[in-house]
Amino acid sequence: MSLRILLTEANIFTTSSDSFFISESISFIPLIWKLKNVIIFIKICLSFLEKLLVLTVATEETDGFLRFMRSANYFNYTVKVLGMGEKWKGGDVGHSIGGGQKVRLLKKAMEALADQEDLVILSVDSYDLIFAGGPEEILKKFKQANHKVLFAAEGLIWPDKRLTDKYPSVRSGKRFLNSGGIIGYAPYINRIVSEWNLHDNDDDQLFYTKIYLDPLKRETLNMTLDHKCQIFQNLNGAVDEVLLKFGTGRVRVRNTMYDSLPIVVHGNGKTKMYLNYLGNYVPNAWNYENGCSGCDDDLLDLTQLEDYPNVLVGVFIEQPTPFLPEFLHRLLTLDYPKDKLQVFVHNNEVYHEKHIQTFWEESKNVFGSFKVVGPEENLSQGEARNMGMDLCRKDATCDYYFSIDSDVMLTNRQTLKLLIEQNRKIIGPLVTRHGKLWSNFWGALSLDGYYARSEDYVDIVQRKRVGVWNIPYMAHVYLIKGAVLRKELKERNYFVLEKLDPDMALCRNAREMGVFMFITNRHDFGRLISTASYNTSHYNNDLWQIFENPVDWKEKYIHQNYTQIFTHNYLEQPCPDVYWFPVLSEKACDEIVEEMEHYGSWSGGKHEDKRISGGYETVPTDDIHMKQIGFDKEWLHFIREFISPVTLKVFSGYYTKGYALMNFVVKYTPERQAYLRPHHDSSTFTINIALNNKGSDFQGGGCRFHRYNCSIESPRKGWSFMHPGRLTHLHEGLPTTNGTRYIAVSFIDP
Ligand SMILES: *[C@@H]1O[C@H](CO)[C@@H](O)[C@H](O)[C@H]1NC(C)=O
Ligand SMILES: *[C@@H]1O[C@H](CO)[C@@H](O)[C@H](O)[C@H]1NC(C)=O
Ligand SMILES: *[C@@H]1O[C@H](CO)[C@@H](O)[C@H](O)[C@H]1NC(C)=O
Ligand SMILES: *[C@@H]1O[C@H](CO)[C@@H](O)[C@H](O)[C@H]1NC(C)=O
Ligand SMILES: *[C@@H]1O[C@H](CO)[C@@H](O)[C@H](O)[C@H]1NC(C)=O
Ligand SMILES: *[C@@H]1O[C@H](CO)[C@@H](O)[C@H](O)[C@H]1NC(C)=O
Ligand SMILES: *[C@@H]1O[C@H](CO)[C@@H](O)[C@H](O)[C@H]1NC(C)=O
Repeated sequence: MSLRILLTEANIFTTSSDSFFISESISFIPLIWKLKNVIIFIKICLSFLEKLLVLTVATEETDGFLRFMRSANYFNYTVKVLGMGEKWKGGDVGHSIGGGQKVRLLKKAMEALADQEDLVILSVDSYDLIFAGGPEEILKKFKQANHKVLFAAEGLIWPDKRLTDKYPSVRSGKRFLNSGGIIGYAPYINRIVSEWNLHDNDDDQLFYTKIYLDPLKRETLNMTLDHKCQIFQNLNGAVDEVLLKFGTGRVRVRNTMYDSLPIVVHGNGKTKMYLNYLGNYVPNAWNYENGCSGCDDDLLDLTQLEDYPNVLVGVFIEQPTPFLPEFLHRLLTLDYPKDKLQVFVHNNEVYHEKHIQTFWEESKNVFGSFKVVGPEENLSQGEARNMGMDLCRKDATCDYYFSIDSDVMLTNRQTLKLLIEQNRKIIGPLVTRHGKLWSNFWGALSLDGYYARSEDYVDIVQRKRVGVWNIPYMAHVYLIKGAVLRKELKERNYFVLEKLDPDMALCRNAREMGVFMFITNRHDFGRLISTASYNTSHYNNDLWQIFENPVDWKEKYIHQNYTQIFTHNYLEQPCPDVYWFPVLSEKACDEIVEEMEHYGSWSGGKHEDKRISGGYETVPTDDIHMKQIGFDKEWLHFIREFISPVTLKVFSGYYTKGYALMNFVVKYTPERQAYLRPHHDSSTFTINIALNNKGSDFQGGGCRFHRYNCSIESPRKGWSFMHPGRLTHLHEGLPTTNGTRYIAVSFIDP
């Protein structure tokens, strides 16, 4: 029999906790072996002498329990779960005393193990605990402790402070017992728990404490505490002592006070969120070399399903929101079968009713259903969110609830599919404010429950660390499984809690129910827009958003082919030094014209003009100045952002100040002013953007440059001319023969 076979068998035995067969094999071993092999063999024998069995009590498979089991399985611990499926009667642990049920179950389990002298029992909690190291390491450290029973220790005494003086004093290290972690030889553990004769809701920690504080028992049972966190790290009161230690492959927790690498990390007390943070890394969830290793576990393969899941989409328009039509349109372009989407809209703003109406007409036959609750219902935000969530909760066919606020611009059409595939109870896509660190999640909470920055927040927002992150708070957009709404979150009114914001209320409720919330940044999903300082007193308010929401402004108002000017030289030169390029979108043109007509006070093309210094215009047009509609700052910014780069390209070496006093929209119509006689402009260069279409909107029109006998008679909507203003480019506006022609003009660098 070869060594190889023997080793394979031995490996099998190490994972079984029952019996030893090795002695039978020993006789087959040839006496002359290479030393190395002998050492390996001895090691295996030693690992047989002491076996480790993990016992934990869990009545439900909570998210925390599943995380515990993942870490245990990763290290190949042998775990026995006690009490699964039993009703929890151990009291509200964490808020008051309780946990007696755990001791009762342990006592019962130990009866059968009492005489196994070489068996080491590790009794731990599981909802709020992670393994950071393996069984061999724990056995080694346990042996170094040189006691029969070792309890976890902490710096805070619980539940009876009056017992403080009874504790042996320690020179350094944690003084008090914590029963979330116990390791010891089976007969000794058995002797301890066999003393239990209390009720399920009596306190387990008090029970162990009293035994430990009895000097006689302490000695005969050979008990001590893990004062310096060699094995057990309780986080309560010790969050500042621990750091993540990144290694190759594995991530550990390091206790900086005792310079130890604890193996059992316990988020006791109010440190569950901190444990969640550690659990995003420990033991192997994420590291620098391989990134996220658990991200592809338990994925749901949508292509394997017979049919796409039903999703209730809750849309919340709680304040005036820029770019709402674009937001609504993105729902239509989500890559998901629309008949599987039921849409519920809460619109709190009269201002947006016209947008909803338009969207409804466009999409009423597209979605599975479409329901709107408008401002007349006067619902609070919390009530509205409860109502949306309840629609999914009450409908057993609702597989997912997808909540999205109107300030979320989902640019990734796959978002919904990607979130469903990730297969978590609650998961949101990371969305951030463009160019800012502002996002839709918090990595940590302050003691009063508000924002605190986690060590990894910036890296996650900037996608330097990519993964699926367990976090304490998220808002704006998230997906919740319908089954979770009908189980863990089956109570209603999740969004109303004390005086909290609705989303903070939801998250706190979810945390208290032990439901993990995740944010994924595995893909680029979209952005958050700013709803601050959104002035709705104009006719087309989004035009004014160039400062507040520049990305959305550009997407809506800049011509689709604008960037090709720079990448593909996408511009023309119809006359010498007259450049012609696309700059404004159709929408921009239409909205600017609408805005001007809404304002309505056209100048009438008179020579007397109070709007300009001197009060006299030699070549007057029928126009409205940008300043008159309060759009001059925005327009100048547009010139600097979008015209200046073109200037630099075509008039190389000329750096424009991007400054202009005269910015206006001209209206040509046969009934009022049809043309403009030849003139120079008071500018270094002029831009002249056509705001509507020849043919459909007007006939005639165009521009003629005299020096070159060159006319451009077919202006294109959204395209701009750019030409020198003085000396060389005497020009005229050709007659508009029918309809109305609009152009936007700026005299730049006067
Ligand atoms: C757990 O066991 C598996 C299979 O025997 C092995 O491949 C793996 O390396 C073990 N894990 C650890 C952390 O030892
Ligand atoms: C505890 O047991 C160890 C052996 O496991 C022994 O060396 C040590 O002296 C004992 N300590 C006490 C206080 O009895
Ligand atoms: C709307 O509700 C608020 C408080 O919920 C109340 O103060 C207000 O009077 C209500 N307005 C209308 C028009 O009913
Ligand atoms: C909103 O715009 C109007 C019209 O331009 C202006 O009168 C008003 O001051 C603006 N409001 C705010 C808060 O900026
Ligand atoms: C942009 O250019 C492409 C061809 O290069 C053209 O097909 C498309 O219509 C242009 N877009 C607009 C809005 O004019
Ligand atoms: C200007 O060009 C037109 C043709 O485009 C031509 O008929 C006309 O003679 C030219 N005028 C001058 C002064 O060159
Ligand atoms: C002028 O435009 C109107 C509508 O825009 C059209 O009905 C009419 O036929 C046009 N007249 C001429 C002479 O093209």
